[in-house]
Amino acid sequence: MTVGIEQMTFYTPGFSLDMVELAKARGEEPEKYTIGIGQSQQSVLPNYEDVVTMGVNAAATLLKTVSTADIEMLLFGTESGVDNSKSAAIFAKNFLGLKDDIRAIEVKQACYGGTFALMQAKDFVSLHPDKKVLVIAADVARYGLHTPGEVTQGAGAVAMLISTDPKIAEINGDSVYMVQDEPDFWRPIDSDIALVDGHQSTDVYKDMFLSLWQRYKVQNQRSLSDFAGFAFHLPYTKMGKKALEQILPEVDEERQVALRKRLTESQYYNRLVGNLYTGSLYLSLLSLLDRSEELAAGDRIGLFSFGSGAEAELFSLTLTTGYQKVLSQQNVQEMLNKRRQLSLFEYETMFTSQLFDSSEDVRSEAPGQTGRCEFLGWQGHYRQYQYKK
Ligand code: HMG
Repeated sequence: MTVGIEQMTFYTPGFSLDMVELAKARGEEPEKYTIGIGQSQQSVLPNYEDVVTMGVNAAATLLKTVSTADIEMLLFGTESGVDNSKSAAIFAKNFLGLKDDIRAIEVKQACYGGTFALMQAKDFVSLHPDKKVLVIAADVARYGLHTPGEVTQGAGAVAMLISTDPKIAEINGDSVYMVQDEPDFWRPIDSDIALVDGHQSTDVYKDMFLSLWQRYKVQNQRSLSDFAGFAFHLPYTKMGKKALEQILPEVDEERQVALRKRLTESQYYNRLVGNLYTGSLYLSLLSLLDRSEELAAGDRIGLFSFGSGAEAELFSLTLTTGYQKVLSQQNVQEMLNKRRQLSLFEYETMFTSQLFDSSEDVRSEAPGQTGRCEFLGWQGHYRQYQYKK
């Protein structure tokens, strides 16, 4: 029996900020942002979007082609939850029209939560082969105006359906994982922005990748030449390069060139969207599969998941015959092109317009009539949404 990804879809809000414009405004050389960090644009969250709306909007595209009747569980990975008690999964379950007799829960461990959800889904489906699990990984990367992390912000969601009919890729049971208590990145309960020691977090990421890579090779009796490409958690695209370059000397020049080319393909969407924490690895996978013309069914792809704090997992997927056709049903490039580019003033206004205070009954700027799920604002301390399927 094979278990894996039957379908995957992506959603990001309809606004973007150009990184050259941000660099100029922050007194930095544009090349620092576009080359040194490797970001060209970032998606910007309006005050009528959050992880629930983005997760629902990503999953709604997926559910156009899949029956909800077989979905037995909804796992929602996020570190930008909308409530300290109620799970984003329950809001999403309602809007997506999933049946009541399922399990639905939110999973948190920084950017790693989506991968934990994916692995729980795999284990569940392995025990219950007639069932499917919907995994959503949605986040808002928010560091604050005028911070070093600002260039690495972003927002979006990836939805994945896990089943015994993995039309995109099989999840191979070859994971290696680790946890280490690190003060590299965190967000206090009373803060709407992440706090980070950026350089330390980059070092922890690189070290954990290297440790897990060494363990992966021994545990699975594999080498770098077994891999057609990698997808990394990409807080910024240069991070993937920093990780991969550590192990490239293990193969000859020709394979190094090929793996670097796959890396560029895997960075393409992330370079235009920014960090989406739990969803970043899976956006990178989507980017690799959409952009590469050299991958083929049967190829093994390595995935490195990293969440600050810190927890990481390295595992692989094997591509399924016809995966390109399944993915072509969604045009991510078109979604990115359709975003309206904001001026710096509009971006800063949008950034500061988020409605974090539940004590005031207030309406968001939700335009309505979009057909998408929107956050309408607060009423009686309770979040109000609208969504018509
Ligand atoms: P910084 O201090 O502003 O940048 O912070 P820098 O001075 O380190 O420069 C960045 C790079 O640009 C350097 O290259 C410079 O040389 C280069 P590197 O040495 O890294 O290869 N540079 C230039 N290149 C070309 N032309 C130029 C130029 N000038 C400089 N003119 C930092 C950068 C990423 C640290 C900051 O943006 C930050 O703190 N970001 C947030 C934290 C982060 O993304 N950490 C990544 C690892 S942790 C992680 O992945 C988990 C996370 O997703 C959260 C979670 O798990 O929930 C963050």
